[in-house]
Amino acid sequence: MTTFQELLSQEQFSKEDLVRMLSAQGKEKEMLFARSAEVKAAYVGNKVYLRGLVEFSNICKKNCYYCGIRAGNEHVSRYTVSEEDVLAAARFVKQQGYGSMVLQSGEQSSKYFSETIARLLEKIHKETGNTIGITLSLGEQSLETYQRWFNAGAKRYLLRIESSNPELYHKIHPQDITHSYKKRMEALHFIRKAGFQLGTGVMIGLPFQTLENLAEDLLFFQTLDVDMVGMGPYIEHSETPLYQYKEELLPVEQRLDLSLKMVAILRLLMKDINIAATTALQTLHPEAREEALRVGANIIMPNMTPQQFRENYFLYQNKAVTKDDAATYHKYLETAVRRVGCEIVYNEHGDSPHFKKKESVK
Ligand code: 5AD
Ligand code: SF4
Repeated sequence: MTTFQELLSQEQFSKEDLVRMLSAQGKEKEMLFARSAEVKAAYVGNKVYLRGLVEFSNICKKNCYYCGIRAGNEHVSRYTVSEEDVLAAARFVKQQGYGSMVLQSGEQSSKYFSETIARLLEKIHKETGNTIGITLSLGEQSLETYQRWFNAGAKRYLLRIESSNPELYHKIHPQDITHSYKKRMEALHFIRKAGFQLGTGVMIGLPFQTLENLAEDLLFFQTLDVDMVGMGPYIEHSETPLYQYKEELLPVEQRLDLSLKMVAILRLLMKDINIAATTALQTLHPEAREEALRVGANIIMPNMTPQQFRENYFLYQNKAVTKDDAATYHKYLETAVRRVGCEIVYNEHGDSPHFKKKESVK
């Protein structure tokens, strides 16, 4: 049998290989993290790119069983950030030299929503002299809407598959047409077709999820040839249907550990993509995001949602929210990133090197 060291230096991995790496403990786990750090250094360096995240609206038509802002949760007070506040965030992103911002919201599919976003994109570009990169994370849309948003100046799109296993996907979503796996897949293809850099991701430590499922997720990212991945631990929320399985979840430390392993293994699999160190990681442990940078991630998305709305965007409970103003938080982040030997890059979009490479051979 191949030694663990030999396994780590392979160029291709089977599902069984991935399960073996996901199960690594002790010395083997350290070897995995050392190897992924090496690959990261060689392919994306120690550079960290920031994306100022605006949680634009918590209005959502969907009812995903895991999510705190699902349409059926009547305890959520619904908001939409004003155009002026989004523009203020965009100005801050430019001033601070963050290079990029992300607009995220619950899923809405009206013509009005589609037009609002398109206009907003145009205004952001006008306000910042076309200097910042914009990523969208606004759920499943028609090809026409994706195209409209791409043409209005957004260049990256994140839509998590949540789980690439159709059966697991169906277990964590209602069984209806708005929550179909097939539609999700179709949306991912539309996003690519519209010209976006494509990002997806999964939750780690979901009820019913096995290590085989997570290995499949990693292979799924590779097969889809994505440009970016954002994945993090599943965190229960008491006002959601999945909460009933909370006793069956992995303990927090193990969920964290598994999430870091997923990041590390993904770096071995897809050496030049952008991988985010997510807020969900930070929620389970205050320094987990930095750990993720150490083992493979290269993107951080500082929250720039206006303070008064942050408590209303609780996809999961105890979400890490800071009460600091953006400038104070930025100082903290710089120190934290430096502590793990990384360096924040300013005034660059930080596009996925993987995407750029594909573009250059077209
Ligand atoms: N725990 C962790 N992540 C969650 N998300 C939604 N609910 C939860 C939860 N309870 C993630 C989903 C979604 C992203 C915006 O937030 O993966 O795609
Ligand atoms: Fe809506 Fe996204 Fe939450 Fe699903 S995960 S309920 S689509 S905000």
